[in-house]
Amino acid sequence: MKITGKKLVLFSGIQPSGNLTLGNYIGALKNWVDLQGKYDCLFSLVDLHTITARQDPKEFHQNCYDALAVYLAVGLDPEKNTIFLQSHVPAHSQLAWVLNCYAYVGELNRMTQFKDKSEKNKDNINVGLFTYPVLMAADILIYQTCLVPVGADQKQHVEIARDIALRFNNLYGEVFTVPEVYHPPLGARIMSLQEPTKKMSKSDDDSNATIFLLDTPDVIANKLKRAVTDSGKDIYFDIKNKPGVTNLLTILAAVTNESVDNLVSEMQGQGYGKLKSAVAERLIEFLRPVQVRYKELRNDQTYLDSVLKRCAKRAVELSQPTLKRVYEVLGFVSW
Ligand code: TRP
Repeated sequence: MKITGKKLVLFSGIQPSGNLTLGNYIGALKNWVDLQGKYDCLFSLVDLHTITARQDPKEFHQNCYDALAVYLAVGLDPEKNTIFLQSHVPAHSQLAWVLNCYAYVGELNRMTQFKDKSEKNKDNINVGLFTYPVLMAADILIYQTCLVPVGADQKQHVEIARDIALRFNNLYGEVFTVPEVYHPPLGARIMSLQEPTKKMSKSDDDSNATIFLLDTPDVIANKLKRAVTDSGKDIYFDIKNKPGVTNLLTILAAVTNESVDNLVSEMQGQGYGKLKSAVAERLIEFLRPVQVRYKELRNDQTYLDSVLKRCAKRAVELSQPTLKRVYEVLGFVSW
C-alpha cells in the first residue's frame, strides 16, 4: 500500500445499514473518490454504530459486504485508502470507553441526532444511541485525524469530538490531533424525491422518496416520474422556493459533472416533465457501469475478504500508537 504517512489524515464513515443511496453517493462517496491520494484516507463501514438500531443478523452481515462492494464500485481504491469495517479494529471500542469518561451527559443530551432518533424509536432508546457520538469521536481521534468530511447533520458530532479532544489534551498534553470538518468543494445535499425539504434517507417509509444505487433503470425512471416538483413551471436553482426542482438540478449536476448554471440554461423553458426525464436518463447512464462493477465485486467474496483483511491489518497498526499513548498518560499499567 502506498501510504507515505506524510499526508494529512482524513477519516469518514457510513453505516452499512441497508442499501446505499444516491444521497450517500453524491453527498459523500463522490467526494471521497476525489480526496483519495490527496490525503491519507480512512474510509470505514461503521458497523458498530449500526447496531444502535436493531438489525437482522443475516441481513446485517450481507449489508456489510454490499456496502463494501459499493465503496469499491464507485472507485475507492483499497490500495490508496484504508477501507475497513470498524468492528475489525478493537481500538475504536477501547478508546470509546475511555472517552465516555471524558464526555458529559449534559453535552450528549444536546445532540440533535440523539433527540431525533429517540423520538422516532421510543421502544429502543438504548445507551449506545446516547453514546454514539463518543464512539464517533473515538473513530476520528484514534487515527490523529485532521479532516472529517461529513454532511451538515453530522457536524455537531464532529464538534463534540473536537471538544473531547481539547478537554483531554488540556488535562494530559497533546495526545490528540483536534479534527476539523472538511467542506468539500461540491457539498451537495440530496433531498427526498417526495419531500424535497427532507434529506434523502435509506430508511424512508415512502419507497419513492429514495434512489438506491442498485435500483434498476425501470425503478429509477418510475421514481423520477413521481418526483415532487414545485409550483410554477420555470426551472431555476432556489433551495427555498423551488426545493424539488433544485434537488433535481443538483442530482443532474452531480451525475453529469456539469455546472448548475449550464444545466439551467439548457433546460430552460422545457418544463418539469422534461427535467425529470433528463435526470432519469443521465442517472441511469451514470449508474450503469457502477452497477456492473458492483455485481462483479459482490460475486467475488474472496477478493472482498482480502481487502477487509489487508485494510484491517493496516488500521489496527495505525490505531495502536494513540491507544498506547492514551493508556500511558492515564496511568494504566502496561503488560
Ligand atoms: N455518524 C456518521 C453518519 O451517520 C457515521 C460515522 C461514524 C462517521 N463515525 C464516523 C462519520 C466518523 C465521520 C467520522 O453519517
